[in-house]
Amino acid sequence: MRKILTFFRLIATGLVLARHDALVPPEFRGLLPFGTRLIGWLARFGLPLKEKNRGKRLARALEKLGPSYVKLGQFLATRNDILSEEVVSGLASLKDKMQPFSQQQAEAILLENYGENWQQIFPSFGPSVAAASVAQVHQAKTADGKTVAVKLLRPGIETRINRDVQTLQMGARLVQNWFVASRRLEPVRFVETVTRSLLLELDLRMEAAAASELAEVSTDIQQVVIPNMHWPLVRERVLVMDWLEATPLTDMDKLRRSKIDMNQLAELIPTSFLSFALDHGVFHADLHEGNMFAFADGRLGLVDFGIVGRIGPAQRRYLAEILYGFLRQDYRRVAEVHFEAGYVPDTHLVDDFAQALRAVGEPVFGKTAKDVSMGQLLLHLFAVTSRFDMHLRPELVLLQKTMVQVEGVARTLNPDHDLWAASAPIIERYIKRELGPEGIINDMTDDFLDLRDAVRALPAAINDLTALAKTTKAHGFSLDDDSLKRLSNWQAKANRIRDFGLLAGGSGLLLTAIKFVFFNG
Ligand SMILES: Nc1ncnc2c1ncn2[C@@H]1O[C@H](COP(=O)(O)OP(=O)(O)O)[C@@H](O)[C@H]1O
Ligand SMILES: [Mg+2]
Repeated sequence: MRKILTFFRLIATGLVLARHDALVPPEFRGLLPFGTRLIGWLARFGLPLKEKNRGKRLARALEKLGPSYVKLGQFLATRNDILSEEVVSGLASLKDKMQPFSQQQAEAILLENYGENWQQIFPSFGPSVAAASVAQVHQAKTADGKTVAVKLLRPGIETRINRDVQTLQMGARLVQNWFVASRRLEPVRFVETVTRSLLLELDLRMEAAAASELAEVSTDIQQVVIPNMHWPLVRERVLVMDWLEATPLTDMDKLRRSKIDMNQLAELIPTSFLSFALDHGVFHADLHEGNMFAFADGRLGLVDFGIVGRIGPAQRRYLAEILYGFLRQDYRRVAEVHFEAGYVPDTHLVDDFAQALRAVGEPVFGKTAKDVSMGQLLLHLFAVTSRFDMHLRPELVLLQKTMVQVEGVARTLNPDHDLWAASAPIIERYIKRELGPEGIINDMTDDFLDLRDAVRALPAAINDLTALAKTTKAHGFSLDDDSLKRLSNWQAKANRIRDFGLLAGGSGLLLTAIKFVFFNG
């Protein structure tokens, strides 16, 4: 029964998308069966379509569909390795702003979490200062007179998100099983990532933990301030942290009027980001202006730790080596890094790859330093690597996307900001530390431990390896763990039969769903 309901919702979702003309690009519409085209046409009937950009149309549809779909859109916006520039840039217009829920509801949450005497815990509790689809933030004072930010989850949000998650999962399965062309996008895995992130957001203790972790690892990044979490008061639905007495970067006028050195701030944002990623392997992955503050003494404050990115030692090293290679315009070396790591299969030639890398690097470095974007360079690099059969780990794409965000903010602060000059010392420091003599000794110890573990696990691994070796030769080593998944893909075939039954049964509901969308949506 639940499946039927979910299927029904899926159809409703599809119709909202069709209504915004965001489902199928017009150029492919001719390929659809007549019935489907008719439904699309009916869904759009009578609607003037002003928006030309397909990504923007999709963004509006997703906003209408609610928080889970907004999140899906935010993740889709990071997939510029697969989606067109138009869609990706249109998706950047996604807005996660909502009417705040009432002060009464907010106080009810406090009552539920801290009991009758919550007013002793928060002698003053102000109105909402910012409201999004999942949570909203209030300013409050604690008993000891401290000003704090209190972030509250929206009432009833879990039910809604859990429902959406089921719909998304079913949609992804159907798409993956029925449209072979979609497999490159790996819809099921993609929705898994989105789902994981959505469910994490439903527990503010996880956000508090991310904040604490970032604060803990970044003691060497002294210019960055992460608000202190008030752990004894943190609950699943309530996050309490120090209020940052600083100017939000969204308030450019106030910033300009202040004495804060804008150039220094512009430098601090991307360099601290790079240092988080390279030196510590963990970074704040939602660095738009709304989540950043400038202190009077020039330090940078960060909030909103819902999404953190992690990159393991191997990817950090890869990242540092390619950035270093590009800095020195040593394309051959950058190419070799890809082959050595096994990222590009040896069915390709190093020199061909180096040539493609030169095509990425030269136009960029021909420009004056301030026009050189590291985020764009990585974006082009990833486009090229996919042509050479390299599978990218999603974390690297997340990093690239955040880099573009970060550079955008830095450029607003100082249009002449020279990102490469500012970043070079951080990249060089990493290379010297990890790949210099000291790094090599650490590596040897790591290798030895790896070897010992590998020998222990050998018998079980041998079977998998034989199969893997074949795929690796043919398709290259994928950075993600889907090589193993591919081995068990035959299971998907069995699921297909079940899905067909579902599809047949559910399609009877289609007409009812159309009615639902037209009269409720
Ligand atoms: N510690 C804080 N100090 C001051 N303002 C804060 C703090 N935390 C959040 N805010 C304000 O509330 C807004 C929303 O908080 P945020 O954590 O970014 O929520 P969301 O996940 O909804 O974007 C921020 O953009 C910021 O203006
Ligand atoms: Mg935010």
